[in-house]
Amino acid sequence: MKNIAVFASGRGTNFSAIAKAVKRGTLKANLALLVCDNPQALVLEKAKRSGVKIALIKREGFAKKKDFESKIIEALKANKIDLIVLAGFMRILSVDFVKEHAGRIINIHPSLLPSFKGSQGIRDAFDCGVKVTGVTVHFVDELMDHGPIILQAPVKIEYDDTLASLDEKIHRVEHSLYPAAIKLFVEDKLRIEARRVKISAR
Ligand code: GAR
Repeated sequence: MKNIAVFASGRGTNFSAIAKAVKRGTLKANLALLVCDNPQALVLEKAKRSGVKIALIKREGFAKKKDFESKIIEALKANKIDLIVLAGFMRILSVDFVKEHAGRIINIHPSLLPSFKGSQGIRDAFDCGVKVTGVTVHFVDELMDHGPIILQAPVKIEYDDTLASLDEKIHRVEHSLYPAAIKLFVEDKLRIEARRVKISAR
């Protein structure tokens, strides 16, 4: 069984969705570690309740980003992590870190990439007035919110949606799309070919 580590800095609703899928047995993986950089994050409580091991590693604890990341790598090695799952981790990982883990880091983003990259993907789509936005799960490369796309799902923005109702719709979609993408990875069904992801028969 593959060992996965979720990296999160905030609320952790995606962490919970993944933990639930693992517990139900619909996602056959070992949720071995939560890596968190924020001592105030609500995700910490969620991990404690689900009995998932926590590595709380604060960026401020290190003068250099390299040392911060070395500490993370140490935790990944100690827990024999096969897949890094970014779920609202509000730190940009260095090019070296990404290269070292190429093909083994995935991210979820609350828009249909390449539109609305950045930390405000839901708000930016809402403010722009697009009628369709969505969710993307992708392999991580050295650019932000960029890399070979694994799965995408559209979310309609209705005229009477508010930012709050859109946020809720997006998160609902994320909570099924992320476990589905992780499942494809752990079942070894993903291949990156010429920057595109080929998904073998499900
Ligand atoms: C999610 O909506 C995720 O798509 C977003 O952070 C949120 C974390 O929510 N990630 C990005 O914007 C990456 N650029 P959660 O803490 O409730 O799982």
